[in-house]
Amino acid sequence: MTALILLGIESSCDDTAAAIVRDNTVLSSVVYGQTSLHADFGGVVPEIAARAHAEKLDHCIEEALAASGIGLSELDGIAVTAGPGLIGGVLSGLMCAKGLAAATGLPLIGVNHLAGHALTPRLTDQVPYPYLMLLVSGGHCQFLIVRGFDDFARIGGTIDDAPGEAFDKTARILGLSQPGGPAIEAAAKSGDTKRFKLPRPLLNQDGCDMSFSGLKTAMLRARDAVVAEYGGLRPQDQSDLAAGFQAAVSDILAEKSRRALLLYLAENPQQPTLAVAGGVAANQTIRQALLQVCAKLETEFLAPPLALCTDNAAMIAYAGIEHLQHGLTSDMTLSARPRWPLDQSAAPMLGSGKKGAKA
Ligand code: KG4
Ligand code: ZN
Repeated sequence: MTALILLGIESSCDDTAAAIVRDNTVLSSVVYGQTSLHADFGGVVPEIAARAHAEKLDHCIEEALAASGIGLSELDGIAVTAGPGLIGGVLSGLMCAKGLAAATGLPLIGVNHLAGHALTPRLTDQVPYPYLMLLVSGGHCQFLIVRGFDDFARIGGTIDDAPGEAFDKTARILGLSQPGGPAIEAAAKSGDTKRFKLPRPLLNQDGCDMSFSGLKTAMLRARDAVVAEYGGLRPQDQSDLAAGFQAAVSDILAEKSRRALLLYLAENPQQPTLAVAGGVAANQTIRQALLQVCAKLETEFLAPPLALCTDNAAMIAYAGIEHLQHGLTSDMTLSARPRWPLDQSAAPMLGSGKKGAKA
């Protein structure tokens, strides 16, 4: 098969990203974050995000092309996130991609953002289908059996908050900086995981569904109790609370991953692989816990490099390549979808995340 070179465009949340990918090689990947734009608001403001995407996208694409040494005329197509996500941001990317496709005559390929994350282990490690995927980010948390580039079975997920959302809210509760994940991980290093008794919701219930909102409420109560006793949060209190929280999330993800793996392995014993993606997969405690689960079940554990775990456009370009290899392209009627579950047959999950629609 001849090599395919695609431009990927991602703008579904608070990262403006463009990348050039040739088959399994990332030639360039540029991400403009928006953390500082939203810092005063305690969460991503959709209108601010959409405007910033619209302002930055063409610079981002120019930079990705320049860094790759590839000219527009050498591309085989343009892949763009068409959902799920914040509608204004998705529209910004879509309009940009359509404009470029119309001007160049290149094929346009609408990609599901979650498919981008879910196919990343194929970009980085060329994993054959099928494999089990745990997607854990600021807006999503689900177990997917990935059977093909457009064939996903969701076997569990969060019924309320996504873990990243819980990390971010807990960091706010503890007076730590945003994004909360790295701040909590750093604070937890010198903390005692056992000082606070924190719940592990749904841990002993059957199945692979998870819940994180009760844990967040427990963090609020634990903090208030410390403040009432000592008149404020001392650094050691912050560390102990952070360590307790991180241990609880890690326990939940590890136990539910063990169950998801058992379900998956019962059907697919020939291909024992668990892959992770999403920002929370950057957490070393969580990675170690998942690694141990996999070791016990003689399963390969794959965690893509951090830059490809968090939101990026290389994963969108790569998913686009697999679409194009199957002759699947979109036309100019391609529309933005705020909600777009990967597994259309699975029952919808409850709730809606801070960082856009759950799917
Ligand atoms: O995948 P991502 O970049 O964006 C989407 O949500 O799509 O994930 C961002 C989330 C944030 O909630 C952030 O706090 C969390 O990932 N995160 C972490 C860590 N690094 C980022 N959570 C736990 N530990 C980390 N080291
Ligand atoms: Zn994402």
